Amino acid sequence: MLWTADEPFTEDAEMQQRFIDRVVVVTGGGLGIGAASARRFADEGARVAVMDLDATEVATRVALAVNGDCTDATQVNAFFDRVEATLGPIDVLFNNVGQSARERGGPFLASDEATWRFVLEVSLLTAMRASRRVAPDMRARSRGRIINMSSDAALVGDVGLADYAAAKMGVVGFTRSLARELAAQGVTVNAVCPGAIRTRAHDTLEPAVLERIRAGTPAGFIAEPADVAALVAFLASDEARFITGQTILIDGGRWMT
Ligand SMILES: NC(=O)c1ccc[n+]([C@@H]2O[C@H](COP(=O)([O-])OP(=O)(O)OC[C@H]3O[C@@H](n4cnc5c(N)ncnc54)[C@H](O)[C@@H]3O)[C@@H](O)[C@H]2O)c1
Repeated sequence: MLWTADEPFTEDAEMQQRFIDRVVVVTGGGLGIGAASARRFADEGARVAVMDLDATEVATRVALAVNGDCTDATQVNAFFDRVEATLGPIDVLFNNVGQSARERGGPFLASDEATWRFVLEVSLLTAMRASRRVAPDMRARSRGRIINMSSDAALVGDVGLADYAAAKMGVVGFTRSLARELAAQGVTVNAVCPGAIRTRAHDTLEPAVLERIRAGTPAGFIAEPADVAALVAFLASDEARFITGQTILIDGGRWMT
């Protein structure tokens, strides 16, 4: 296979149970990395709530699956009200939702402001909005984990992705600032930066493009959503209590500092 490792990631049959009785929210958890993370948390005992434009596919695997738009503040607040009423206070927030301009994307010199606003809204403001909603309660309860989805595009920079890289670097700055505000109350805030992960966006790429991505990745393969889910679950676990404000790359070595 072109994009997998010789020994692809396999989920541990003897899965740990680190999130029993914890309430976990995953935004954009209907497909891809978000869905893999929602499943991972559920498999480890969490009561998981997902908000997605289309949460159908993950609905049977989680406690609450709601169709909704994370860029709409009214829908987001209604979703969190429902999570708290049905599942209880939120222990973990995974701000996963986000995307590039995709088919509307292209070189910065040909880009337009409406597209930047779309990308910043879906990839940065969604994380700020959901965090603003849950952080006061986490602080009051002196417990909580917020994990924000960035991208290695933020650090590496990518041709045709200036708006996306800006939004995802915004996530890094937001993560560091919020981490400082909440650290003393036992709430950690971290960012994850995946490189190439095999989700539906990759299914539309030409084999030559995939090969170029693979060749530019020191590890030599394109990873699975479950690889990222494992990192997110670790950061959400009790074991990660002394890790906050960090930006963790999971990109096969594309960016090294
Ligand atoms: N796949 C990669 O290679 C990669 C690399 C780095 C970062 N990321 C980031 O990971 C996150 C997930 O990406 P993915 O590849 O799993 O994407 P995906 O397209 O496979 O899944 C994204 C999910 O988000 C949902 N969604 C999109 N806009 C939404 C909105 N406004 N409100 C609610 N739900 C919405 C979609 O319906 C979909 O279920 C994104 O923030 C992306 O930028 C992905």
